[in-house]
Amino acid sequence: METHLQHRDRVGVADAVLLEDYTNETAFVDNLEKRFNENLIYTYIGPVLVSVNPYKDIHIYGPEYIEEYENKHFFEVPPHVFALTDTAYRSLKEENREQCILIAGESGAGKTEASKKVLQYVAAVTEHRGAVEKVKDKLLHSNPLLEAFGNAKTNRNDNSSRFGKYMDIQFDFQGLPVGGNILNYLLEKSRVINQAPGERNFHIFYQLLAGASDSELDELCLKRNLSLYYYLSHGGKSNGNNLDDKKAYDEVKKGIATLEFSELEQKEMFSIVASVLHMGNVGFTEEEGKAQISKAEALEAICKLIGVSESQLAKALTHRTITAHGDVVTSPLNRELAVYARDALAKAIYDRLFTWLVQRLNRSLQSEDARKYKAMGILDIYGFEIFQKNSFEQLCINFCNEKLQQLFIELTLKSEQEEYLKEGIEWQNVDYFDNKVICDLIEEKHKGIISVMDEECLRPGEPTDVTMLAKMNKNFKIHKHYISHEKADTKTQKTMGRDEFRLVHYAGDVTYNINGFLEKNNDLLFRDLKEAMCNSTNEIMKSIFPAKERESMKRPETAITQFRTSLNNLMDILMDKEPSYIRCIKPNDVKKAAVFDETLVRHQVKYLGLMENLRVRRAGFAYRRLYERFLQRYKSLCNATWPKWHGSPREGVQTLVNALGYEKDEYRMGKTKIFIRFPKTLFQTEDAFQLKKHELASKIQATYKSVLQRRKYLKTKQSAIVIQKWVRRYQAQKLAEQRRKAAFTITRLIKGFLTRNGPVTEINKAFIELAKAEWLIRLSKSLPQNILNRRWPPCPHACQEASALLERYYGAHMSRVYRYKLKPEKKEQLELKVLAESLFKNKKKIYPRSISTWFVNNRVPKEQQGILSDFIASTIAPTGEKEKYVTPVMKYDRHGYKPRERVLVVTNRAFYLLEVTKSVKQKHRFPLDVVSLVVTSENDKVLMIRLPEDLMKKDKGDLILEVPQLIEALTKIIDLTKKQHMLSILDQKTIEHHMKQGKHGVIEITTGNPQSIHKSKSGHLLIVASP
Ligand SMILES: Nc1ncnc2c1ncn2[C@@H]1O[C@H](COP(=O)(O)OP(=O)(O)O)[C@@H](O)[C@H]1O
Ligand SMILES: [Mg+2]
Repeated sequence: METHLQHRDRVGVADAVLLEDYTNETAFVDNLEKRFNENLIYTYIGPVLVSVNPYKDIHIYGPEYIEEYENKHFFEVPPHVFALTDTAYRSLKEENREQCILIAGESGAGKTEASKKVLQYVAAVTEHRGAVEKVKDKLLHSNPLLEAFGNAKTNRNDNSSRFGKYMDIQFDFQGLPVGGNILNYLLEKSRVINQAPGERNFHIFYQLLAGASDSELDELCLKRNLSLYYYLSHGGKSNGNNLDDKKAYDEVKKGIATLEFSELEQKEMFSIVASVLHMGNVGFTEEEGKAQISKAEALEAICKLIGVSESQLAKALTHRTITAHGDVVTSPLNRELAVYARDALAKAIYDRLFTWLVQRLNRSLQSEDARKYKAMGILDIYGFEIFQKNSFEQLCINFCNEKLQQLFIELTLKSEQEEYLKEGIEWQNVDYFDNKVICDLIEEKHKGIISVMDEECLRPGEPTDVTMLAKMNKNFKIHKHYISHEKADTKTQKTMGRDEFRLVHYAGDVTYNINGFLEKNNDLLFRDLKEAMCNSTNEIMKSIFPAKERESMKRPETAITQFRTSLNNLMDILMDKEPSYIRCIKPNDVKKAAVFDETLVRHQVKYLGLMENLRVRRAGFAYRRLYERFLQRYKSLCNATWPKWHGSPREGVQTLVNALGYEKDEYRMGKTKIFIRFPKTLFQTEDAFQLKKHELASKIQATYKSVLQRRKYLKTKQSAIVIQKWVRRYQAQKLAEQRRKAAFTITRLIKGFLTRNGPVTEINKAFIELAKAEWLIRLSKSLPQNILNRRWPPCPHACQEASALLERYYGAHMSRVYRYKLKPEKKEQLELKVLAESLFKNKKKIYPRSISTWFVNNRVPKEQQGILSDFIASTIAPTGEKEKYVTPVMKYDRHGYKPRERVLVVTNRAFYLLEVTKSVKQKHRFPLDVVSLVVTSENDKVLMIRLPEDLMKKDKGDLILEVPQLIEALTKIIDLTKKQHMLSILDQKTIEHHMKQGKHGVIEITTGNPQSIHKSKSGHLLIVASP
């Protein structure tokens, strides 16, 4: 929003101080117009806010705008009444300085609206606490009430304030609103009895008739018809505003409730309002120069409403009592005077009721807390009025504006110059117009216009307006600011009448017409009427016409003297406050939006003294502060002054501005204060400070956060340690438990191990069980794989029995499996081998050598095979014998022991010894069952076949053979014959062999190397067997 705003704000200049030619009124008005056309109704002249009435809603007062302006620098944001209010409010809150916001401008220029915005802003930015809300509520609600009684529709403004208002908002030390106070000035009471064409009486009359219920109206003896009331029938009618009046009446009622009016107060107040309406309807006739009341019902109603006796009021309205030289004389009034008396009463009643209302509001607004408060005043008062015809009221109003201008000069110019002087700053004189001379012209004691007027009023004899003017003309003949018709040059004379005088106000010349001055200033209300009102049973009426006043013989002060007194009081109030100025301008006379009447505006610029304002602004220094204060605020911007400056504040500030790089022209060093010429310079400094503040704040924050974090960290750490402690404790306990268990298990194991061989006890039971299981598992993995290698693993003591059984069973099992797996030929082999074992094991040394060799049936070399088989087939087979074993052998002769190669064939019945050469020759045959077989026990392969006696004849004796596979051959033979006894194994050194005819040969057996079989020297056959 801000950028948007500021973008729009580039139209023209936001601060007229920035205008190139600041003395050029046209440029100034042009700037206002340019901005006005863009709906930028606010423009600054330095700190003065100029506001041009837009006559339409421009939506710049919503909450988002309030937020936008809250706590911002005045010049940081686009001009706005909120910015001005914020600055004033902050100065009040933070620096404890009382404030006043002076709002000036013509009727309809937007003063009252501006004052409402000020109030709105203050209400919005102060806290929303119960008590505060209530006060704010009252402050806000007092406005509709005041406006109902004090505002009226005029040709310039539909809601024109017809009184001057100064409102104090009171704040406590925290800057919270705690109460308020209102001062009212110069209610335009003539409006009660008469209104200009197109205008209306005060709103309240219309609101009452439109808004009150029928019963309420009945009670007030009123009818809902405006034309029935003389005081309302002059000017404009309700203009179809009925609905608004009705709504406004509701608002009034709401205000009354919020401000806690009692039932009675309310009733009495409206009774008085109604009685004023009735008052207008009291008519008079004249008989012999004496006035008579003609409309009794109006009088009746008044008396009923305010509780006065009819006869007293009727008399008071038609008679006048005067005290002259101690005599009291009552004389009747003529009709004209009676009407005058009646109207004077109506005006007086309404005027005093209004004052009562203000006081009543003040009672409600009074802060409950009697402690010292600070006030922010809002002055909403008419600006200069220059009409075609200017009268007494305009003189009062313009006098008021002169006083305010005087105040402005006092507060800004003069005090500024004096301050520069005091501070030793050279000042280039601003040529401004000090209007004190005009103020003096009007109000100087014994000399001024007021004095002359009062004198004329009080003078015995027949003073008139004319005599008054004559006296003034005479007294101020030579005054520069007073122009009389007679004194003026002819050119001027043409512009004014003889019944007029002209004052040269600071804002321009104003010509006043003297007619009515005397009467208005006298403001006469006959004693009889005051007396009658004093006797009223209506408490309000009684209080506004106090008995004291009637009793006092002193003449009441004239209107203008009263006004001067209250004005001077106001000046005193304003004097010690810090002022802010809002200058309101209305852009046209037709209450229309988007119409900018340059002439009209130029006129207002002149009478508001805006160009004067501008000139002064451009000459002075925008900002000043005591060295201490300035240093205190900005010392953080320079290392030398931060955090503490030890020298004098002035030197400190000098160091500081040097560091900040202020140009020579931008500032001056006074005796106690620094003066900064341009707002820009200060804002740059302030911005730097705001930045720095953040930096410092961040540092503090960082430190603080780190402390917090550390605390949090330590706490977390502590907690973690506690948790860890518990976890570790738990884990340690677990571990200890585990170890205990393990130790127990180990102990049990060791004990079990130690006693494993003993009887089973509780202690070793588990171990033994385990040992058994382990052994079984181990056993299952290491069972003997081979039937020949039956290494049985060792077993624990407890399993010995089982082990033995298992070994046996397993052995049986293996054997069985082996057996089943065995093939017939292998089985046969095996049976042969078993047989061989039973025959030779440990009996014949050569036996082991045979074990590893398979037994076969034929050992004959291949080349002999064919011939041999032919022989067997042709010779042996036909005998029905079956060849069982064939092997080459070496036959040793019985005598010479010559070796001869032969082939031994064993059939199922006989041995055949064959000589195999090219042919086969059978050398021997003997049946199996008659021979016996002899071998040595040594390591030789000699076989002796011992023949029985009867065969000896045919053969020459026992056959001595060397059989290459001796064990094999013998086993086969025994297997054939199934006669083990036919084999003899002789463990002898010598063996005899038989020959026919009872002869013997000797075979000697020795051991040695090389082995051989040969005939020894002794003629024996020597067998050298390997040992
Ligand atoms: N800021 C504003 N925005 C919109 N309308 C405004 C503004 N100021 C004044 N007006 C209009 O102008 C009328 C007259 O304003 P008001 O404040 O009563 O004038 P003054 O008090 O100076 O006589 C208001 O009723 C309203 O319609
Ligand atoms: Mg107003």
